[in-house]
This record gives sequence, C-alpha cells and structure tokens, in this order.
Amino acid sequence: MALYIGVDIGTSGTKSLIMDEQGTILAESTAEYPIHMPKPLWTEQDPEDWWQAVKKTIKSVIKTSKAKKSDIKAIGLSGQMHGSVFLNKKGAVIRPALLWNDQRTVAECEEITTKAGGREALIKMVANPALTGFTAPKLLWLRNREPKNYDALTHLLLPKDDVRRRLTGVFATDASDASGMLLLDVKNRTWSKELLGKLDIDPAILAPVFESEQVTGTLLPDVAAELGLSTDCKVVGGAGDCAAGAVGNGIVKQGVLTASLGTSGVMFCHSDEPQYDAQGRLHTFCHAVHGKWHMMGVTLSAAGSLQWFVSQLCTELAMKKGSDPYKTINKEALAVSPGSDGLFFLPYLAGERSPHADPNARGCFIGLTNKHTRGHMARSVMEGVGFSLRESLSILQELQVPVKEIRVSGGGSKSPLWKQILADTFGQKACTINAEQGPAYGVALLAAVGDGAYKNIEEACKATIHVVEKISPQKPSQKKYDAAFPVYQRLYASLKKNFAEISQL
Ligand code: XUL
Repeated sequence: MALYIGVDIGTSGTKSLIMDEQGTILAESTAEYPIHMPKPLWTEQDPEDWWQAVKKTIKSVIKTSKAKKSDIKAIGLSGQMHGSVFLNKKGAVIRPALLWNDQRTVAECEEITTKAGGREALIKMVANPALTGFTAPKLLWLRNREPKNYDALTHLLLPKDDVRRRLTGVFATDASDASGMLLLDVKNRTWSKELLGKLDIDPAILAPVFESEQVTGTLLPDVAAELGLSTDCKVVGGAGDCAAGAVGNGIVKQGVLTASLGTSGVMFCHSDEPQYDAQGRLHTFCHAVHGKWHMMGVTLSAAGSLQWFVSQLCTELAMKKGSDPYKTINKEALAVSPGSDGLFFLPYLAGERSPHADPNARGCFIGLTNKHTRGHMARSVMEGVGFSLRESLSILQELQVPVKEIRVSGGGSKSPLWKQILADTFGQKACTINAEQGPAYGVALLAAVGDGAYKNIEEACKATIHVVEKISPQKPSQKKYDAAFPVYQRLYASLKKNFAEISQL
C-alpha cells in the first residue's frame, strides 16, 4: 500500500489530508492561526504558527487513518503564495512574514518598474507587472524600511518552502509558486538574472526551482521521529495554492477553468504556452503541470468578504452556540431576488488585484435603501464577488481562451446559493467535482506522481477526479446579472479617484 499526504498552508489555517494511491481520502485535519494587521491593509503571519499547524495536522491524519509509517511514501506542499519568509544565516526568521494581501509596497512597485525600464520591459522579463502583493516588492520594502533586518537576510522563502526547509533541511521552491515572486523568468522557468541584476538582488538568497512533482528531499531524522514518519518519506516540489487548487480540481488541460471561492477568489485557466494579457490585468504564471503555464485573475476578498460580513455585521449569529451563522445568512440571502433589489457590493476590503491592481480600492455597499435587509446585504456580497470573478472571466474570453467548463471550488462553494449565483453571473454551468479539498488534494496527487504511482499529473487527475454536479444558469437571473454587470463595472471607474483621496486622509 502507498499513501500520500497533501498539506495546504492557507491564510486562515493549514489543512492536511492523507490519501491512498487511488486518490481516496482517508483522513483530513485543519488547524487555524491568527492573521496580524499592524496597520490598515498590512497583513502578517508568524511562520512558526504555520510550522506548528503543519505538524499538528500531519500527526492528526496519521493517527485518524491508522496509517503505517512505511506506507507513507511522499508529501506534497501547497501554500498561500507571495508571502515573504525572511531568514538569517542561522536559519532563524528575522521578522513576521508579509502576506499576499498586504498593500504596503506601493512605492517599491514603482521602484521596481522604474529600475526594470518600465512596465513593458518588466512584463517581458517576468511576465507580470509589479503588484503590491507580490514578493519582490516586499524584499525591497525590507531593504528600504528595515535596513538592519535586510543586512541580516541570507534567504528569502515562500510560506510552503519554509515548511519544506523545516521538514527536510532543503532550500527549494517550485515554478508555480516562484512565479508569484516577480523574480522568475516565467517563460523559461528560471530566476531572471536580468531583473535580479537591475534590482541589485543577490540570487543566492533564492532557492533552486523545481517542477511540482519532482522530489526535493526526504525528511530530517528528528522531524520524521516527531511526526511518526520514515526518513525515506519524500517531499515533492508542490505548488502555490492557486496552481495546486487547480490540479486538485483537474484543471490540467485547456478549456476547463476553475473559479475558486477561498479567502481570495481565483479565476484560473491552463495554457500550453505562456499567454499574456498585454495590459497586465491577469497574472501569467507557471502551472504545476510539468512545463505548462496558466493565467489567472485574483479577487483579493472573495469568501473573505462574506467572512468579514458575518464576523462584523452578524455578531449575534456568530456568537450563538451550536448554530452555523453561514446557514442563516444563506437562508436570508436566498429569500432575496437576484440583483438584491439594486444593492451592489464592491469586494475591495483589502484593495483589489484583478483587474484593477489598485491598493487604494475600498469595499462598498452601494444603493442601500431603508427597504434593504441583512439578507440583501449578504446576497449582494455573493453577487459582488461573482461580478468580480466575471471581470477576470471576460478578460480571458477577450484573449480567446476556450471556456468549455467552469469548476467551482473553495470554502464558499459549499453554499448552493453562491454556486447558483456564479452560474447565473457567468452564464455558464457551474460544476463541482468529487473532491472538495482543492490545494491539499492537488499536492497529494503531485506527491503520488513524484513517487511513481502515476506517469504524470494529467494521468493522476484523469484517474481520480470527475464532475459530480452541474448547476445550469437560470435564464431570468442571468438576464438580471447581464444588465447589472456593466453597472458594477462602472462603479469602480466612478469611484477610483475617491478611493485615492480616501487613502490620503
Ligand atoms: C494568488 C494569491 C492568493 C493567495 C491566497 O496570487 O495572492 O490566492 O495565494 O492563498
């Protein structure tokens, strides 16, 4: 028997699962940790919290599944992308990691663009424009704002790669996650010497780049002993959570897309060749499929918007023991008609990435009247996220990306209502697959490939993943959303200037 563990180091918590060679999940476990916001729009986490959660959840899935140590052949790692783990020469973390939704690096993005020779030149080198969430601006922020910490820096790792270092003692990353650092020559899947030179960054601080199924190392003896695993247990390259989630949804060929509703929302498509949006509205990154790429648009606050709504505006529900506030909110939202009687929500609680790339953007309810209820507000949050993902979908369609099927995934997709809203907003069937675990499942499959259980990830996905539900768009709702979508789009255009003014107050 061969078993594989998949670990996803997310923003709200870490999820681990263990599966057999056929892809059947035997046990899963999650552990949560806090997110720190020292200032508005600054987000940080402690890499030690990730490590403790990883160990706890791995131990838990081994215990629950009663797996034999010698059967567990390989581990795959996935994690929130772009986060900066700054290490000194002793391997100690220098300061808390800055996260993917941190917006403090506006000046550093300008610095990078200028030093690269302009936006177009930068896109040529690393396939993407400088965005505040990416890792390179965080490194420059450390150099500009905390020079003492920068002087002590010897390694810069992404969240899951710091966990790999602690598991195996090896410094390594994979091409999909490395793409989000803004330092990778995405076309050639190697660090961009050209940009590193222009930014005066020592390439030695970066880890070697692997493909997602390649074995990067095996467990350190003390770690193996603590976890109850063998020192022969391999750790494969793994992937950033977007590419890993796509693999976990079987998005390994053209035409099948995924729309995910995690803390962030992602509209993701596979591409056989690197394909770019000249305007830089979408990201072009390496895929976790060997030698392939993907494009995606990211809504920074997707299920994160509903989570904010429930925790801040439905406190009595959130505090009621034994009841699920999301169930109540969904019921109230279902009673409201599509379009929320003219109420719009702009999901820019953490600024916005796609398609606006605007750290100043702010969340808004627009169109409130005294007839609107909490149910209207909840529904408009779901609809606003749907519109935001449709903006990314529209750009993909504009770029002639074939769209044959959209698979909906992530925590928010547990809501039948939200899935229906996505089908109606996209005017496409919203499909769900047999496994809900997304990134953790994707990297467990990559671990199985790395161990030789499958020839490649395409074969692994074909053997394990199938569609179990297709929700068709309902014509009357679709019509309403088609009419509301351009209004939603114009709201950002009208408010852009005000957002900039607000950020100066
Ligand atoms: C992707 C991104 C987010 C994080 C969240 O570019 O920033 O999806 O990876 O986990």
